Amino acid sequence: MYVDSHCHLTFPELASDLPRVLAAMADAGVDRALSICTTLEEADQVQALAAAHPNLWATVGVHPDNEGVREPSVDELVSLSKRPKVVALGETGLDYYRLGERSVADMAWQRERFRVHIRAARATGLPLVIHTRSASEDTLAILREEGAGQVSGVFHCFTETREVARAALELGFMISFSGILTFKNAADLREVAREVPLDRCLIETDSPYLAPVPYRGKTNQPAYVPHVAAQIAQLKGLPVETIAAQTSVNFERLFGVAPAVSGGRD
Ligand code: NI
Repeated sequence: MYVDSHCHLTFPELASDLPRVLAAMADAGVDRALSICTTLEEADQVQALAAAHPNLWATVGVHPDNEGVREPSVDELVSLSKRPKVVALGETGLDYYRLGERSVADMAWQRERFRVHIRAARATGLPLVIHTRSASEDTLAILREEGAGQVSGVFHCFTETREVARAALELGFMISFSGILTFKNAADLREVAREVPLDRCLIETDSPYLAPVPYRGKTNQPAYVPHVAAQIAQLKGLPVETIAAQTSVNFERLFGVAPAVSGGRD
């Protein structure tokens, strides 16, 4: 009944124990998951994994934090995105959180990489999976410049303000909440989640990172995504089944995935 809209199943923490991770996912009622690509080097593996499992899908893209990896061109992204089970481009975006000695001006390469992903999204019609951290103004500005009205997608692992949420919604994007929503110090984010219309919400783990309470600090996995749904249910005063069903429909709509076949498990 649940969908994990963002996880990294090819990262060693999960890949090393994948049969158990997938079994735990099924036991937890998490029907489906989107496995996210973060480098071109891992694109084959992410796509092959999705192709091998009817309930997994894949993205193709290069994460803004990854340096010293192969830089994507629009043509290469477009070509990789035509493979079976690839339903989105990303994760892509901007991250000024760990600038170190650098200034925002030094991050022109990151902005250019982001523009390349948006152009590929425009060329293919596929949605974008957006990562933004300490860079929401530039993220929104570049999205408007390159793709306003022509691209859709999701702001994943949302931790920004209600103003940024409103701007993303206005651009036609969805907002995805992770286990951070359950953290004790995330009161502001919970207020944002209360405001985001349920038909624009997705849920995710971003596993192996950011395990929700009560697993905080442990290795995260798709099986834990119901804890994010439960938190949203509490905030909105709705049954968790309603959150599970609507976020699943939202996932299908955004990524063009057919509804899960019911009756496959009891
Ligand atoms: Ni991620």
